[in-house]
Amino acid sequence: MTTPRRVESLLTDKGQVPVYTTAVVEQPWADYTAVEHDTWARLCARQGEILPRRACRAFLENLQALGMHGDRIPKFDALNVHLQRATGWRLIGVEGLLPELDFFQHLAAREFPVTWWIRRPEQFDYISEPDLFHDLFGHVPLLMNPVFADYMQAYGAGGVRAATFGGEPLTNLTRLYWYTVEFGLIREAEGLRIYGSGISSSQGESVYCLDSSAPNRVGFDLARVMRTRYRIDTYQKTYFVIDSFEQLFRATVAPDFGPIYYGLKGAQSIPAGALLDTDAVIQRGSGEGWLADGDV
Ligand code: PHE
Ligand code: FE
Repeated sequence: MTTPRRVESLLTDKGQVPVYTTAVVEQPWADYTAVEHDTWARLCARQGEILPRRACRAFLENLQALGMHGDRIPKFDALNVHLQRATGWRLIGVEGLLPELDFFQHLAAREFPVTWWIRRPEQFDYISEPDLFHDLFGHVPLLMNPVFADYMQAYGAGGVRAATFGGEPLTNLTRLYWYTVEFGLIREAEGLRIYGSGISSSQGESVYCLDSSAPNRVGFDLARVMRTRYRIDTYQKTYFVIDSFEQLFRATVAPDFGPIYYGLKGAQSIPAGALLDTDAVIQRGSGEGWLADGDV
């Protein structure tokens, strides 16, 4: 594997974050080694065992439809055939995390940036930045869902707009992404299910988020989520639960966030594990194992 070109590190509200070149790159598919294909295959097989009855229906069905459970790293071009047909989305190869505005612009154009490199074997269980497995396995199945796909595009457009409003609106919007796209739960007829990609690409959190009595599980509320800090180095202390992708879409796409950002200006942020009197509490977490500090 050639080395991804990391251009700089930025100190952000998420700590020191690596930022990569913004160039769109060709997926170097022929260069993946046998070890890298094997890492992909083993990660897929492991999540494939855990996720039935845990991930939401749309995720599981589309995972099958995309044929992502194979033993070789998928080609972006092959996945794009399915995506184009289903929702008009397209995967583009990138070196890693993009600067915020570039990321928003891609989403607004229905382009999903995918890190082309996969974690090393010694990072099998945990990697602190998104790699190919997280980006493909975690995010792409739901891009096949028409409502979710439209939400993602609208989110990107909202991000481009928020970037003109300054730091606080961007923080509010990032929290929305975190607690939905990355760590969201959804209520289905059979019970709570996973749709967040940060969960579905993690063995430990796929079990913890549904089975543990430690975290809070709370009904989704836009302004509440926008005020809530989160964890980047441990499992979440609170998960927000939507009833459907339509609910998420209705709550976010039509409303003009301008007045909402304005109303939140200077508001106290809510610690990641706190519950409010106004919360629609599904489960009050025991807080077992929580670290006192480190919410971002
Ligand atoms: N409606 C939001 C705005 O006015 C845009 C948005 C859509 C944000 C969907 C997030 C998700 O800025
Ligand atoms: Fe992600």
